[in-house]
Amino acid sequence: MTMGPALRKGVLTAHVTASVGWLGAVAASLVLAAAAMASSDELVVRGAYLLLEPLALYLLVPLSFASLLTGVIQSLGTRWGLFRHYWVVAKLLINVFASIVLLLYLRTLGYLAATASTGDLTSLRNPSPLLHGGVALVLLGLATVLSVFKPKGVTAHGRRRQTTERAAMAQT
Ligand code: HEM
Repeated sequence: MTMGPALRKGVLTAHVTASVGWLGAVAASLVLAAAAMASSDELVVRGAYLLLEPLALYLLVPLSFASLLTGVIQSLGTRWGLFRHYWVVAKLLINVFASIVLLLYLRTLGYLAATASTGDLTSLRNPSPLLHGGVALVLLGLATVLSVFKPKGVTAHGRRRQTTERAAMAQT
């Protein structure tokens, strides 16, 4: 089933907003993670670890789900399909992988926020949010490049679909 032009543009707008918004929110979390590692001001360090958790919970997680949902609708509702082009499959894998790691990482962020409100400052400094945020930024950057360039590679499933579609066109 293919979407009409207005619906397609509407879903695409939602998809780009959610996906690139997710990338921007990851960049914001990197600033907090860097401040938490580098700042000599105790309030900044504690504040950064306290803010990383709600940022993930109320922004990163909803945006990652919105990106996945709109991306799947956009794929299934257009000629791109979900498993026909390698660039779409790669983005699906990036999204699912990053979302699962993010959900698992919420525990660590909760622990860091709890320590930040009461614990000792030296045991608090932790490079892992910087590392996770850095890897997420690279993966989402890669997904953005794939989206814009849309490399040609077609999967075996995509080739079969092309053949049946061409045969159906020839018969009409
Ligand atoms: C991982 C994070 C993602 C980012 C950063 C991202 C980013 C983007 C961007 C910027 C575009 C617009 C490109 C253009 O038309 O020039 C786009 C389009 C598209 N995305 Fe994503 N996307 C992501 C995830 C996904 C997922 C999970 C899927 C589906 C499995 C998906 C499927 C698509 C499709 C099919 C289009 C083309 C829509 C069309 O031309 O009608 N994306 N994406």
